Amino acid sequence: MKSQNRKTSETKREKPWGGRFTQATDSLVERFTASVHYDWRLYRHDIRGSRAHARMLARRGIIGQDDLEAIIKGLDEIEHEIEQGVFRWRQDLEDVHMNIERALVEKVGEPGKRLHTARSRNDQVALDVRMYLRDEMGRIDRLLACLQGSFVAQAKARSDLLMPGYTHLQRAQPVLWAHHMLAYFEMFKRDRQRLKDLLKRVNLCPLGSAALAGTGFPIDRETVARELDFDGVTANSMDAVGDRDFIIEFLAASSLIMAHLSRLSEEMVLWSSSEFSFVDLPDSFCTGSSIMPQKKNPDVPELVRGKTGRVYGHLMGLLTTLKGLPLAYNRDLQEDKEALFDTIDTVAMSIEVMIGVVSGMKPRRDRLASAVKTGFLTATDLADYLVGRGVPFREAHRIVGQAVAMCVEQGRELTDLSLAELKELSPLIEQDVFDVLAPEGSVGSRNVPGGTAPHQVKTAISRAEDWLNDNGAL
Ligand code: ARG
Repeated sequence: MKSQNRKTSETKREKPWGGRFTQATDSLVERFTASVHYDWRLYRHDIRGSRAHARMLARRGIIGQDDLEAIIKGLDEIEHEIEQGVFRWRQDLEDVHMNIERALVEKVGEPGKRLHTARSRNDQVALDVRMYLRDEMGRIDRLLACLQGSFVAQAKARSDLLMPGYTHLQRAQPVLWAHHMLAYFEMFKRDRQRLKDLLKRVNLCPLGSAALAGTGFPIDRETVARELDFDGVTANSMDAVGDRDFIIEFLAASSLIMAHLSRLSEEMVLWSSSEFSFVDLPDSFCTGSSIMPQKKNPDVPELVRGKTGRVYGHLMGLLTTLKGLPLAYNRDLQEDKEALFDTIDTVAMSIEVMIGVVSGMKPRRDRLASAVKTGFLTATDLADYLVGRGVPFREAHRIVGQAVAMCVEQGRELTDLSLAELKELSPLIEQDVFDVLAPEGSVGSRNVPGGTAPHQVKTAISRAEDWLNDNGAL
């Protein structure tokens, strides 16, 4: 009964693709295949692409000048209606492309019906997604630049501050806070380089590929590509409508951005715990507990860490979608959009919130100072000191290991040992050993390019600033 009702109401509906069909689409199929509830967000790019396509058709005499004028006027109105939120999106018209085209025909009549000459939705959707993605990549790149700026600001504001550096999450050697901050600068630098590189492959115009084989109309692909700010045109029509590599590359680049944000988040969570108490996170970027009044929770970095999983998932998902597809276009490819849109939203917002966390976090000098003094962080420096006096490194390593074992047993630090006690370990040790055992001495000695010595870090800060100046957003 129910399904009969459904069919009767459906048969009245006119099919968007007209002649071939005698039966209306089952409403279940309509819901299953529709993408307009998410791909509507391509509307601006869809309309921009259509304008350029129509202008080219007119220039080439494929449509008339009055057709062009009607089309442009209609598209302008449609864009305005969408922006005002008064455009009525129809699920039965499947996607953003058919919705806009139908609205155009309803507005301007016959000229609207000429717009799709020499074009297929297959090259149209590839065009829209490429234009949309390139804009969003620009936005993400700007956010990353801003995040990099927050790390530079943190580094510059506390250029003398020491903290423990870790390996295996065990205190290892003292480092400058600024050095740690600039480690993140480098990660996001690579992320931005990856975006810039993949933009070369995104920014090619697929229009003119039509359904899969190109078109018989005397179109002009190059001018359209230039008008739409592309660097060139795609080389093979079949590849151009079937290719989603550029989205996968973007999802992979996004996965690495999220990996870096997640590692940063993990440190924010650790550092703000009472066990570490290395930093205070800004109140405005933390949340409370509904039951425990004392809590100040790092939900923002936790969520960023958590959201990393969904971005990795989208990458895996689209790789899997693509793997068994014969050439050229297959409807499976429609599955690219939700993965892409959600990745863009997730990555952009995660960067944005982490900019807030990073710029607002305040290191706790007292805690960091006492942390660098405990845990034998300068044991390597003592070994290196002995090496400087002719002891082979392996031997020096053994001597200092014994000293550490003795200290552990007695609950002391290396700096607590007297010169006499140290001399018992090795008669080569002199008074100047205490400069070496001090964290400042240790940091200062690591004066190699890329090392944590203040001089090196100062250079690294100015290099980072130069890099930011030279690498404006995409
Ligand atoms: N909504 C479709 C997509 O996103 C547009 C292309 C449809 N092409 C087709 N031949 N059905 O992939």
